[in-house]
Amino acid sequence: MTEVASPTAAGSGASATKTFQERAKAGAATDRARVNAIASDALAALRDVIRKHGVTYDEYNAFKAWMIRVGADGEWPLFLDVFLEHEVEDVASASREGTAGSIEGPYYVEGAPEFGSAGPLPMRADEPGVRLKFFGQVRSVGGQPIAGAEVDFWQADDAGLYSQFAPGIPEWNLRGRFSTDAEGKYAIDTLHPAPYQIPTDGATGALISAAGWHAWRPAHLHVKVSAPGHQLITTQLYFNGGEHVKDDIASAVKDALILDPTPADGGGEQVRYDFVLDPA
Ligand code: DHB
Ligand code: FE
Repeated sequence: MTEVASPTAAGSGASATKTFQERAKAGAATDRARVNAIASDALAALRDVIRKHGVTYDEYNAFKAWMIRVGADGEWPLFLDVFLEHEVEDVASASREGTAGSIEGPYYVEGAPEFGSAGPLPMRADEPGVRLKFFGQVRSVGGQPIAGAEVDFWQADDAGLYSQFAPGIPEWNLRGRFSTDAEGKYAIDTLHPAPYQIPTDGATGALISAAGWHAWRPAHLHVKVSAPGHQLITTQLYFNGGEHVKDDIASAVKDALILDPTPADGGGEQVRYDFVLDPA
């Protein structure tokens, strides 16, 4: 893995907040009883923490200052997606039979360039990193191949940075939408990403270092797979034996999502992964 300066909180955080706000739909919770139940329980849980630990005024004020700083740094999407999204994802996918889901994270962007069923992702002429051929088939839970399924793919580069969130990377670098062929197959030429480090210079990084935690996610590929008549899945793929696969700060690794690439003819590595979609 290449060590480079980590993206600044002001950069990645602010971009993630802007992207989220542009995509945010109208509030989901309009049922007063449900808002009451969830908000009351959330506040009760925090009051329990205050009692349990005998939280002092100094600590309460530090908490207030920290909450304000998370917003000022634009880090709410990063913080929430690292520490809470995996639980929401687990609830959302509990009744699905197909491929396991995982968190979306803060760095998805709609409208990536479209390609056919196979080809390279947009990348720089001198893009560093071990080449990876990622290919497979999309099927329904009944086993039928799905032609024309969309495989919307995004990932960090060899330095763990995402285009449109870290500076100096071409707009759609390592992002693209593929469409499966008549046999439901796709093949993406990309590269093995580096582990991702949560920006260390913002409020989330300050909490992580104050608590003595580490700030890493294992190397991962992001994908959304969808097809008419089927449920969209959002998931991530990891690499067997990779750093932090067993201690992801975002708790988003599932065994069924760990790839084991083999050497590819002509260099680099290759791995097959088939996606199975539940009916809508
Ligand atoms: C975060 C970043 C990721 O790349 C990801 O997949 C999940 C969460 C984050 O910084 O919150
Ligand atoms: Fe990610």
